[in-house]
Amino acid sequence: MESLILIYKAGCLGNWAGNFAEMASFLKTGGHYYKSLDVLKRKSDQFVRNIGTLRNHMVSAIQRLPQHRSCFNILSVGSGTGKEDMEILKIVKEELERTQGRDQTMIYNRAIELNEYACDLYKASVEMLNDRQIAVDVRCQSFEEYKERGAKEPEERTRFDVIHFTHSIYYLDIKESLSHCIENELNANGSLFVMVGGPDLICLVLDKQRFPDWYGKSNGSVPESYNAVEKILKFVEEGGWKYEVFSHEYPIDVTDVFDPESTEGNLLLDFLTHSKNFRGTADEEVVNETLALIKDLSTIKDGRHFGKLTEYLIFIYK
Ligand SMILES: C[S@@+](CC[C@H](N)C(=O)[O-])C[C@H]1O[C@@H](n2cnc3c(N)ncnc32)[C@H](O)[C@@H]1O
Repeated sequence: MESLILIYKAGCLGNWAGNFAEMASFLKTGGHYYKSLDVLKRKSDQFVRNIGTLRNHMVSAIQRLPQHRSCFNILSVGSGTGKEDMEILKIVKEELERTQGRDQTMIYNRAIELNEYACDLYKASVEMLNDRQIAVDVRCQSFEEYKERGAKEPEERTRFDVIHFTHSIYYLDIKESLSHCIENELNANGSLFVMVGGPDLICLVLDKQRFPDWYGKSNGSVPESYNAVEKILKFVEEGGWKYEVFSHEYPIDVTDVFDPESTEGNLLLDFLTHSKNFRGTADEEVVNETLALIKDLSTIKDGRHFGKLTEYLIFIYK
């Protein structure tokens, strides 16, 4: 069930932002990271759900912009392999065609992604796109490098109508990244959206890796360590920006993580713990406690174990 959250209740655990060291080292596993992320998406239907949510909410953000324009610019930060970006492009193109007629507006999409493995896959999907109306510029660099270059060559700056961070803001300095984008990259009337996980199975399992002893010993309260949603909302409130927050929950099938022989199960366990070959490299006690935690956080239906994922979509308007 999707809901519009008007007042965000602080105090719950939000997400992984802040846990930079462990997260950055898992990112460096390249192909392994994306394979395990793919399993997470498949087991939760995350991709289809995200696109559905975006379709529902992006249209009004596009409609705020002045009509009859020659170019619509999109900036994607932490784009991964570009699968979500391709769907976002489709949504924008359909909406522009609906309101302005066919082929009237060029769409320019700039993607900033630091991982070479992901950039190569992204570029391959751009080649398949074959659409005269859409120009895609994949920049294989960190967002920090991108910002630095922009500061040196401000006259080269493009302004964007939509800027998005889909499940990537955890890895960045939230306040700095959002201020930079709103002040230096976003067009007047443009919108920036962040898709981000909330308090759910992933953050509880990650917390277990960082603070192995907290679970079951703290009356259900958890360390308030990596709260991306709270940080974003604090930023928008303090800046006086207009914003909207939507959230939804959905199940993830975690059954395979309990089977040590399952390739998918081990990949999923790696993503949940953000460690490569978690089962083979972590202390046996931590592995057993982590599996017990996942079991504890899941419910059984038709013999399969399901955990809960929570996702927030936050639109910020200029
Ligand atoms: C969880 S993935 C999300 C990918 C994609 N947006 C999606 O929704 O599937 C996070 C992505 O952020 C990228 N990333 C992390 N830190 C980054 C940085 N400092 N600059 C650019 N990209 C970064 C990672 O390489 C990774 O591809």
